[in-house]
Amino acid sequence: MAEKRKYLSDIHLEDYTAQYETGYATADNVIFTGGRYKESLDGIWQYAVDQYDTCLRQKWFNEGYTDANGLTFPVDYSFDQWPTINLPCCWNNVKEEYHLYECPMVFTRKFGYLEAAKDERVFLRIGAANYIVRVFMNKQYVGMHRGGSTPAFWDVTEFLQKDNRIILSVDGTRRPEQVPTENTDWFNYCGVYREIELIRVPKVHVKDFSCNLVNDGFFDKIEASVTISEETDALANLTIEELGVNEVFQIKGGVGKVITISEPELWSPENPKLYNVKLEITAEDNINEVLDCVSDEIGFREIKSIDGKIWLNGKEIFLRGISCHEDSVVGGKMLTDEERIENIKIAKELGCNFMRVAHYPHHENMSKLADKMGILLWEEVPVYWAIKFSRQATYDDAENQLKEMILRDRNRASVIIWSVGNENADSDERLEFMSGLAKCAKALDPTRLISAACLVDGELNIIADRLADYLDVIGINEYYGWYNPDFARLPQLFENSHPDKPVIITEFGADAMSHHHGTKDDKGTEECQADVYEKQIEAIRQISYIKGMTPWILYDFQCPRRTAFIQNYYNRKGLLNEDKTYRKPAFYILQKFYKGLQD
Ligand code: GCU
Repeated sequence: MAEKRKYLSDIHLEDYTAQYETGYATADNVIFTGGRYKESLDGIWQYAVDQYDTCLRQKWFNEGYTDANGLTFPVDYSFDQWPTINLPCCWNNVKEEYHLYECPMVFTRKFGYLEAAKDERVFLRIGAANYIVRVFMNKQYVGMHRGGSTPAFWDVTEFLQKDNRIILSVDGTRRPEQVPTENTDWFNYCGVYREIELIRVPKVHVKDFSCNLVNDGFFDKIEASVTISEETDALANLTIEELGVNEVFQIKGGVGKVITISEPELWSPENPKLYNVKLEITAEDNINEVLDCVSDEIGFREIKSIDGKIWLNGKEIFLRGISCHEDSVVGGKMLTDEERIENIKIAKELGCNFMRVAHYPHHENMSKLADKMGILLWEEVPVYWAIKFSRQATYDDAENQLKEMILRDRNRASVIIWSVGNENADSDERLEFMSGLAKCAKALDPTRLISAACLVDGELNIIADRLADYLDVIGINEYYGWYNPDFARLPQLFENSHPDKPVIITEFGADAMSHHHGTKDDKGTEECQADVYEKQIEAIRQISYIKGMTPWILYDFQCPRRTAFIQNYYNRKGLLNEDKTYRKPAFYILQKFYKGLQD
């Protein structure tokens, strides 16, 4: 009878996910990974399309069911006989039949693991999985992560054995309560699409380590902050050999901070100077007993917003930017480093010193490459359009993604702006939600500028978003000449507005299919896009309170909302086509303007 009840419970249990709402991977689980050895689980996995979430409903991770009498039951899976797939990947780009599939897929593999040394901890890190990932190891549920673009960590020490099976159930379903919601203007690539790795750390290890120039305008002090995994006392030793820095400082109750006098060569797009920074944690009573050691390649620079201007290393700067999605015709949202390098090179060819990596945290290598190649970045959480602003769990999800992004990238000199969202209609709930995120970002990282891509007040034709009170820099998306055909309203907008903070025009643009020609009034032609760029630049260049721009967008990207003949499921506002083999005329118009600013 019990067996019947069990089988029935599997198929009749409506709220079958409730049992998996534990083991949340959040920003609190994050550990510092710089300089650590990582054991990769990337490569060949078995997989199945699990359209009805049967893995969760029937608990496939139990690997079979035997009743009290030793009778076994039929199962609906055969892990080792399933087809194989190479992880990480976006499954949408692996097989034509999966292109529009967004529901769960199940991935599994076996792996051997050397016993963890005494007191060692082992973390599983997944670089990103879109949108919910649930982890099972050796017939046990480990935990879950929500959020499609930030890393997740679980301490799996107690789950590991010599021979292991790991199972990942990944659900890419878009939902109104998620961040972003079910409605965006980009393609919902799904899967485990960034690295999967195991990281061994000592029992007492570095959870968080930040090292930056003190933002006091003197450029002669470096501060380092450390949080370790235990609320104990210890010593920390900060070493920056090239600067002759070798500073020992106290860790009390698990946290420590030091400021040391040093005048590093300042990082800038023109001079992307990076230093090797090492941090050792030692026992409080024996500096030779090293408990943990991490490192990072760090550039030292200062970014400020004062008197309506943006200052980099004490010099006023105009942010010559371009927006960019994380989209590849080959890998979807899983770009290669070669593609990231290509995107930065094209942006620099355009004359950019700045990129808005929209609308979600890109792979950590984007900011590491930006550090090396010298380009400033705007990073953003996908609080995009109509979020469930009055739902606490949605706020918690958004805030967690924001913290995970900041903890991951806050040693990256190239990142100068954290954006808390994009194009959100003004309301009291939205103001509370996004001002909360802005305050959270500023508290977690007071060294950077906080912004958001805001809408203009269309009725009054003025820049007047209440969120601006909580921002250091006001981002403005405006599409005069495109969605607002009456271009004359753009100069009026600028005339009507008197912002007391720097404004960055975070979006303007127009769709153009490559090689599609007509008059400048023919929407979708290269001539129309070029005309919009000419007029936008002419209007923007005259406004003193505008201190930057990131036109929309570097190259065409996949978008299910775009079905017109010239679009064919692509947003065609790119200055290049989707495989970046063709530069539209507007590319050269923007390039000419940016080159003129540099002369
Ligand atoms: C919006 C939005 C973008 C979108 C763009 C467009 O401003 O921020 O994500 O792709 O406009 O309509 O092309």
